[in-house]
Amino acid sequence: MAEDLHIVKGSKEEQYMHLLPQITGLLEGESDLIANLANICGALKEQFGFFWVGFYLVKNEELVLGPFQGPVACTRIKKGRGVCGTAWEKGEAILVPDVEKFPGHIACSSFSKSEIVLPLFHATKVVGVLDVDSAELNSFDHVDAKYLQQIIDLINYPTN
Ligand code: SME
Repeated sequence: MAEDLHIVKGSKEEQYMHLLPQITGLLEGESDLIANLANICGALKEQFGFFWVGFYLVKNEELVLGPFQGPVACTRIKKGRGVCGTAWEKGEAILVPDVEKFPGHIACSSFSKSEIVLPLFHATKVVGVLDVDSAELNSFDHVDAKYLQQIIDLINYPTN
């Protein structure tokens, strides 16, 4: 497929619904995990203009920074630390309407005001997280959780 993303305006749900098949197309036929994670970040950043969107991957019992779009970020996060480490530990998505009210939030940037983190599951194991940050409060809701989950469900993991 052509590598140009078709950007649409409209409700958040319409934007996600338009983006999902395009991300499916971008990932189709590509087995490289990093390439696919990188394109997911690019597509989300381009469509929504999020402040920061990226992946952390579990390596030696730590989350290590993976492909992302946005300002430079913390490289390592321990299990149970911050929003990312908590999503990893609990194995569930976490919505943070106001990062200052999340105990232990890790402020990679003082501009980040709200955040959503979803764990990446390979079989029954969390192998990483998707983290999306906004420079505004209350940016994320169940619509983001639903469609971001559908997007990360498209990821294929190496079977070694
Ligand atoms: N805020 C995250 C850290 C990652 S950055 O926002 C990119 C956290 O509390 O886990």
